Amino acid sequence: MALKITVIGTGYLGATHAAAMAELGFEVLGLDVVPEKIEMLAAGKVPMYEPGLEELLAKHVAGIEGSSGRLRFTTSWEEIGEFGDVHFVCVNTPQKHGEYACDMSYVDRAFASLAPQLKRPALVVGKSTVPVGSAARLAGLLAELAPVGADAELAWNPEFLREGFAVQDTLHPDRIVVGVQSERSEKLLREVYATPVGEGSPFVVMDFPTSELVKTSANSFLATKISFINAMAEVCEAADGDVVKLAEAIGYDERIGSKFLRAGIGFGGGCLPKDIRAFMARAGELGADQALTFLREVDSINMRRRGHMVELARDAVGGDSFLGKRVAVLGATFKPDSDDVRDSPALNVAGQIHLQGGQVTVYDPKGMENARRLFPTLAYAESALDAVRGADVVLHLTEWREFRELDVAALGEVATSRIVLDGRNALDSVKWREAGWTYRAMGRPKA
Ligand code: UDX
Repeated sequence: MALKITVIGTGYLGATHAAAMAELGFEVLGLDVVPEKIEMLAAGKVPMYEPGLEELLAKHVAGIEGSSGRLRFTTSWEEIGEFGDVHFVCVNTPQKHGEYACDMSYVDRAFASLAPQLKRPALVVGKSTVPVGSAARLAGLLAELAPVGADAELAWNPEFLREGFAVQDTLHPDRIVVGVQSERSEKLLREVYATPVGEGSPFVVMDFPTSELVKTSANSFLATKISFINAMAEVCEAADGDVVKLAEAIGYDERIGSKFLRAGIGFGGGCLPKDIRAFMARAGELGADQALTFLREVDSINMRRRGHMVELARDAVGGDSFLGKRVAVLGATFKPDSDDVRDSPALNVAGQIHLQGGQVTVYDPKGMENARRLFPTLAYAESALDAVRGADVVLHLTEWREFRELDVAALGEVATSRIVLDGRNALDSVKWREAGWTYRAMGRPKA
């Protein structure tokens, strides 16, 4: 009989994983402790913006006309325990308030709620990003709390999906990494992932600590690559070089690769910043902090770029202060094709300018609601044109396609000064300049 799958936690990761598992042909039951989220999902609605996810849900959520009916949602742990052969834990592991370390309380609570409900042999699979050593600890907890004892096994299966590409990354992963302690766990996970493995996704089997480290080291590498190119941008600025050309040229070397070499205001979001910090904190606990001191530098280069954008904006409005100056901010999310504003470089820059007395107006295609909630004191406009109206400077801080397609002549008509600062090196400088704008980007010559 086909495996029955549960997914615990329905954020970006869990909601996508649940829909993807239904797409792969499994019966799926998703759980969240927030009833409003469950109500939305059960109606086929996604609580966040993720391209393609709503369509996938509509295809499978039970009760929606024409759906496969394979995907249902609940808030009941008891139902989850009765239903599942394989339980994926997909809850959040945010940064602890005021600390670098990772907050494991959601994971711990999920295990404490799930384990007592496991009344038949089951595999629990952790997908959350956790400090190395957590899986071994959670396996102990499971054995202690599950009525079936050793018949409840744990495996670790980190997730590498990118927001904006979550559906594609889940259905066609670059690789499937599993940390297991038994052949039985490996066999079950091979069954779950038979389709993507059959289509060519490598299936890499390892122990618990290595599987936990794969995730944090992958994100550290990506963060390092971005900070590397941003460090080169700093040098280019000092030497009058062009970081975009530099990135193109070094990227042709296959050992370096062209991806993740976009210089600008740096990385943000719910993963890279907190993951490198949690990794440093954990290495410290293990006595290996020296191995990761470079990540401090990666973090500080990243934060410096936000500050540098603020300086460029201040220069653009006259140099001394933002008082009485209007600043249009295009972009609020941490990246395009997402409504996620967690640790968003764009909002951080907007917030700094606001604190320094600037009158900031923000526009974002999808992130307005979340941005308003996080930064209620900023002003928000309903369109790019409205944000730019009366602006002394325009900051392009998240590289949405909409901003590349703007009618820049029309923007020029309503702006007070035609100065645009491209914090993502993504706009067509020729187009802006031809329409009479002064265009400046990070790590590039002024002219
Ligand atoms: C990241 C990892 O890519 C993914 O594998 C992991 O599972 C979760 O964390 P995500 O947070 O969705 O995914 O975003 P990503 O596309 O990696 O971008 C992160 C940040 O880096 C964004 O703020 C983006 O704007 C920035 N970035 C990315 C750059 O500044 N330059 C680049 O060249 C690439």
